[in-house]
Amino acid sequence: MGTEYDETENHSTNPTSNTPFGEVVRAAASRRSVVKGSLATAAVAFMGSQTTLNGQLTPILPMRPGLTDFKPLARSDATGPWPSISEDYEFDIILPWGDPIEPAGPAFEYPFTSANQALQIGTGHDGMWFFPDRDNPENENRRGFLAINHEFGRNPAVIGKNQPESLEDVRVSQHAHGVSIVGIERTGTEWRTFATPNARRIHVNTPMAFGGPAAGHRLLTTSNGNAALGTVNNCGSGYTPWGTYLTCEENFNGYFGATHEIEPWMSTESQRRYGFSENGFRYGWHLYDKRFDLSNPGFQNEENRFGWVVEIDPYDASQTPIKRTALGRFKHESVALVAGQDRRVVAYMGDDQRFDYIYKFVSSDDYIGLIHEGKSPLDHGTLYVAKFNSDYTGNWIELSLNNRDLRNRFRDMGELLVNTRLAADIVGATPMDRPEWISVAPDGMVYCACTNNNRRQVQHPANPQVPNPDGHIIRWRDSHAHTGMWFKWDIFQLASSTHGTEASYSDPDAIWIDPEGRLFIATDGGQKDGMNNQLLVADTVTRDVKRLFAGVAGDEVTGIAMTPDRRTMFVNIQHPGNGSIDRSDFPRMGSAPVPREATIVIRRKNGGIIGT
Ligand code: FEO
Ligand code: CA
Ligand code: CA
Ligand code: CA
Repeated sequence: MGTEYDETENHSTNPTSNTPFGEVVRAAASRRSVVKGSLATAAVAFMGSQTTLNGQLTPILPMRPGLTDFKPLARSDATGPWPSISEDYEFDIILPWGDPIEPAGPAFEYPFTSANQALQIGTGHDGMWFFPDRDNPENENRRGFLAINHEFGRNPAVIGKNQPESLEDVRVSQHAHGVSIVGIERTGTEWRTFATPNARRIHVNTPMAFGGPAAGHRLLTTSNGNAALGTVNNCGSGYTPWGTYLTCEENFNGYFGATHEIEPWMSTESQRRYGFSENGFRYGWHLYDKRFDLSNPGFQNEENRFGWVVEIDPYDASQTPIKRTALGRFKHESVALVAGQDRRVVAYMGDDQRFDYIYKFVSSDDYIGLIHEGKSPLDHGTLYVAKFNSDYTGNWIELSLNNRDLRNRFRDMGELLVNTRLAADIVGATPMDRPEWISVAPDGMVYCACTNNNRRQVQHPANPQVPNPDGHIIRWRDSHAHTGMWFKWDIFQLASSTHGTEASYSDPDAIWIDPEGRLFIATDGGQKDGMNNQLLVADTVTRDVKRLFAGVAGDEVTGIAMTPDRRTMFVNIQHPGNGSIDRSDFPRMGSAPVPREATIVIRRKNGGIIGT
């Protein structure tokens, strides 16, 4: 979510003091030598130690420097009213909010009807991934299915008023959230939607299923027994080796409220930890849709059905999306999957709120074997939370009933998973500076963007800036090829270390690392020198950063996706003008009193791989 919303949506609800102050101060001095010293030397030393650490494990693919030679977009050219790009690249704009998901669907018309919005692309474009058309493998780079998250849209932009005045207003807003699966194909350089049975909208009223240890749990059952519906605040994304899409429910708390109709609403410890309040983020859904009314006893536990990672089959529109409870319940930003030792699947995840945590899930067995047994690898395994030590080691702490403290607190795994944050508090996880996207490099190093934390008052070596208005990127390498219980970590880059240089950026948010080690960094927050939010490419060996693209006023850049040949990249412009036409008229398509989110298609003018 954009910085202008940070105060309501990201203020900490973590009441613990999980970081001993002494350990932190001791670490501060040595921190400086790594952060401010010779970056190249530090990198080499670190890589060397990682090789020793993991010497007996999966081979670490060496990465070479010098992977980018494009002419960077100048800082002074990243400030205009229209997106800008490196002179070696060009871009197009596709799939704006409100266009039909198929060519014959209802055309964009503002204001929306809820019926039309359910057949049109949603708003708040965020995480996404491109799934090539498997029936046309020879066309995999020109035809496929784009899955796009629609994270959020404020009432004034989406329904044209501050508060809903009817259930229809609420339904318009609900249908603008969720996920779009859209068939797109390229003719020449132009991408267009095509008619396909795979196209679908998944929104707040779409039937959902649950998988994993909390499926069927009493805490996921309401007293009136209503079926599970919907996904909301779909932020970052992930994709599985078996060809499905993962969408992450982030600030789900903000869509609930309390009417006090029946009795004064009193929040529970769990509700407080997840940030539920009487008015939420003032969407007002609870005023007309009792499902979102925390004070309605018929819908008690409804809120527990949100805050999960949801698996979607982009190739089968009849599939019911499945919430994978083994991956925990928190403000899921994104999920990065990698095959670890014994071909167990490992999922790295951040909980994006100030002073919340980084998690990983490890499947119990070879993921291909599990699939052959008819089991989801994401339903069977162990969830861990990260503790970063001041000596650059870290521990993955198991969140299960094997831990006596957790056994004393939770009756079963379902109850624990519904309250993942409370469990992580108990075991002493390390509070981070808003961990957003995570991506795994080809050398096995795992990168996480900690976007910012202007409330940090106590230094922690893994969150070394006090306060931290501009964010940093941390990285680690796990023992036992991602499946082990410990890791070594380092700060890859403080965003502030780029300030005053041509590579200046702040607030790293969406990140993705290509198979050769280029780290794409998209930003969401106030950039220096009047720049708009931007997309940069970092060399993970030299840590050099180049600006590839910049968006428009009031937006964020997010949702990095690639065709298999990496010669077409898709990124999203979210909340252009922060929803105000006075700040941005992006994307100048159709007549609308509001700017519209859209997807940017990027290609290198010489047809080369994106980032080169
Ligand atoms: Fe939805 Fe934390 O960005
Ligand atoms: Ca956002
Ligand atoms: Ca953000
Ligand atoms: Ca984000």
